[in-house]
Amino acid sequence: MISWIFIIKFWVLSSSYSIPEIYSGVKIRMFARTSFKHAVVEGFQPLIHHRRYATAASLNQTEVAKFAAMADSWWDMEGPFKPLHAMNPARLTFIRSTLCRHFGKDPFSARPFEGLKFVDVGCGGGILSEPLARMGASVTGIDVVEKNITIARLHADLDPVASSIEYRCTTAENLVEEQIKFDAVIALEVIEHVSAPAEFCKSLSALTVSNGATVISTVNRSMRAYASTIVAAEYILQWLPKGTHQWSSFITPEELVLTLQRASISVEEMAGFDFDPLTGQWSITDDIGVQYIAFGIRNG
Ligand SMILES: C[S@@+](CC[C@H](N)C(=O)[O-])C[C@H]1O[C@@H](n2cnc3c(N)ncnc32)[C@H](O)[C@@H]1O
Repeated sequence: MISWIFIIKFWVLSSSYSIPEIYSGVKIRMFARTSFKHAVVEGFQPLIHHRRYATAASLNQTEVAKFAAMADSWWDMEGPFKPLHAMNPARLTFIRSTLCRHFGKDPFSARPFEGLKFVDVGCGGGILSEPLARMGASVTGIDVVEKNITIARLHADLDPVASSIEYRCTTAENLVEEQIKFDAVIALEVIEHVSAPAEFCKSLSALTVSNGATVISTVNRSMRAYASTIVAAEYILQWLPKGTHQWSSFITPEELVLTLQRASISVEEMAGFDFDPLTGQWSITDDIGVQYIAFGIRNG
């Protein structure tokens, strides 16, 4: 199994897809901040790929059924959500760094998000909501799968700090109708599971206060992502149930930036995730060829 990881890793690295390559001709600033590199995208001119998005509500019943079937496993560290648990430190590093800078908070403080209202859209069992609450944010976690919300509530209640999280079984669209707004709207690994990404992004935007932040992570529609997240993770290593991901639902960084731009969100920074098979740990990289995360600001 380890040899498979090395073969795939070698192939993935040998066909590296870094930010300057994709955004050639666009002003990109690379710089080191805290423990990793960010890419700042300035004056973005997207390479347009055509993709048909359904225009109805973002709910995709097939995807929802998949997550309902796995709901009991959210806090099983060796279960299907093991990769999300393993990625959490790297995703939180990016979130802490970008949001502290944006909101003028001290990234070295124990509770840097004190006083800020966050919504974790597609929160699942609360893997991300809980650490965000421990970092001081007032967190609302929403998910369309009722069982996910039940599991998230039960688990959060084990910790007095996390028990402050408000969990609700609802969609971003429904929350928009309630006219609730948040300082930061976070949707990690969700957009590739919705049926109308453009509509979904508009809802995320409508939930964000003016000059508030949006953070989205997803999977790039690249051959390397197909090899690593579907062939390797689902079929060879069997980290995830077969069929968890649909390659055609993956979104390229260019498409995400354009879609967010149309929803009045300007993407300011992006970073990729890199897996080290020796340590089993994920880290932040400037290679956004496979899994990546984007931070944007709601205009106006
Ligand atoms: C891959 S999981 C990600 C969970 C969590 N965001 C994380 O990264 O730890 C995707 C989650 O999105 C939820 N989901 C799918 N479609 C959704 C929608 N339209 N609105 C809200 N949640 C949705 C699923 O039920 C599932 O819990």
